[in-house]
Amino acid sequence: MSNNLLKGKRGIITGALDENSIAWKIALKAHEQGAKFVLTNAPVAMRLGAIKKLAEETKSEIIPADASSIEDITNLFAKSQEILGGKIDFVLHSIGMSANIRKNIHYTELNYDFYMKSLDISALSLHKMLSVAYKTDALAEHASVVALTYIGAQRVYPFYTDMSEAKAMLESIVRNFGYHYGKKNKVRVNSVSQSPTKTSAGNGIKGFAEFFDLADMQSALGNASADSCADYCITLFSDYTKWVTMQNLFHDGGYSTTGVSTEMMEKIS
Ligand code: NAI
Repeated sequence: MSNNLLKGKRGIITGALDENSIAWKIALKAHEQGAKFVLTNAPVAMRLGAIKKLAEETKSEIIPADASSIEDITNLFAKSQEILGGKIDFVLHSIGMSANIRKNIHYTELNYDFYMKSLDISALSLHKMLSVAYKTDALAEHASVVALTYIGAQRVYPFYTDMSEAKAMLESIVRNFGYHYGKKNKVRVNSVSQSPTKTSAGNGIKGFAEFFDLADMQSALGNASADSCADYCITLFSDYTKWVTMQNLFHDGGYSTTGVSTEMMEKIS
């Protein structure tokens, strides 16, 4: 159902890899709500080809960009404004990658080249995007930037290894750049801390399926789905949240404030 919440808005959506991607759902809902946007992903992700289907469905163009490359990001913002016909009103940062997780390397033995890559791609990329946009004045007044994150930034999840630190850094960039961009032209920057979600990034974590069920049991409302995460992000891109900025917003069915659920107690008794 459309309420035209994003009618007339121009956006950039990163991270739609396949139909399971959270960014994929956000793109579908943004289209439904009347937004025009550009899709982007790493050039290597283009090879999988699925993003073309999403582009057709949402009548959007694709601009390949490696989120760790300032050159690619500069091109992304310049071309997006050309294609969409003006400054950008919303940006979704939905990017995460850890070779340490992919290769199942234990936290105490992290490969530091991989570690630096995790930080660069999963966290610094947000700084780079905001910095390019800031310098080129690419974001409209009251534009909204949302980055997806996970509670591993605040709490220990042994399987999350270097992504814990990448997400902590990402959330710090949200606060710090949110301050500067708010002062500049009222641009707001927030992160949404999402429940475990069955996507390519999620499923890449060893033991994810079991953990998904535990988190579901531990949340008053159960795990929040990718679809509902998309709904939440749409509200953050809309004009109904104009004074929300520099926040880490939990979209997790109550997981983050639950000590223990009765279901969990029953499971171990
Ligand atoms: P996904 O695997 O569909 O999306 C991750 C995206 O990052 C992919 O599209 C991938 O191509 C892109 N990417 C990787 N390296 C890149 C680079 N160098 N340049 C540009 N793009 C690059 O998985 P998902 O779950 O939709 O992930 C989206 C975001 O949500 C990530 O930030 C993830 O950490 C976060 N998140 C995911 C949760 C989960 O359980 N799946 C839970 C909480 C947050």
